[in-house]
Amino acid sequence: MSLTAVQADIFLHHLEIQSSNPESLANFYSNIMDMKIEKLSSKKFVCEGPARKIIITLGENKTLSYAGMVCRNQNNLNEFKEFLNQNELKLKEYNSELYKSGSFSVEDPDKNIICFGVLKNNSSSLLNGIHAPLQHLTFASEDVVSFENFYKNKLGFQVTDRVVKDNGELATCFTTSNHEHHTIACFKSSKKGMDHHSYEAGDWNYIKSWCDHFASNNIKLMWGPGRHGPGNNLFVFIEDIDGNWIEISAELETVYGRPVKNWPQEERTLNLWGNAIMRS
Ligand SMILES: [Fe+2]
Repeated sequence: MSLTAVQADIFLHHLEIQSSNPESLANFYSNIMDMKIEKLSSKKFVCEGPARKIIITLGENKTLSYAGMVCRNQNNLNEFKEFLNQNELKLKEYNSELYKSGSFSVEDPDKNIICFGVLKNNSSSLLNGIHAPLQHLTFASEDVVSFENFYKNKLGFQVTDRVVKDNGELATCFTTSNHEHHTIACFKSSKKGMDHHSYEAGDWNYIKSWCDHFASNNIKLMWGPGRHGPGNNLFVFIEDIDGNWIEISAELETVYGRPVKNWPQEERTLNLWGNAIMRS
């Protein structure tokens, strides 16, 4: 038997990102994203808060090493692997201190590395801190059509919403690997790689707590507060010291097999009073 990503109920658990100064970036995530730091070496730090984890290694700024996706049990992982093998996808064994044996990675059309595995333990859910689990990751790409084909047809993600330009070109594609509106999305851009990573606070009151926390640390909001059209989630964005964009979200839509919706570009994001607001 084989399972698509959605049937296997896969979620985003952690990210590994690179920085030319991993210690400074780890301190930023510790102070601003309310995480504890574990220094593994001068080149590698693990930042962890309640249900959120980011690994920071020495490397090129604003570069994702990999996205760490998780299956809730070994059986689902095995059957998801079967689905990928049926699609003749090239899987690479991926060993990590976080995953049990059997974890593996795939490379998407833009060479982003996505890992899949079952966790050895999930101790981060017990940590204290302001609530907001890591929830989704968004890529920039010159080719959103290839992104959509790969995640939908090869990995078995569900396409939930698409933003389409007046000329019919696909500008944004939202895909999910579970019941949440999106776990990985992609924006048309002249750049490629990570666009932002997002933490789902769930409730507007938590966004207020985060904004108060940011203000007390002199962190300015880069975008928002607002509400996205696709996903219907409230949001604010900040920027880390390397220029990576971080989203705090709430009220993200849950999706159970509803049809794909196409959005005109001008309706993709509204402020809280219903007027269109663009990021840039
Ligand atoms: Fe987002």
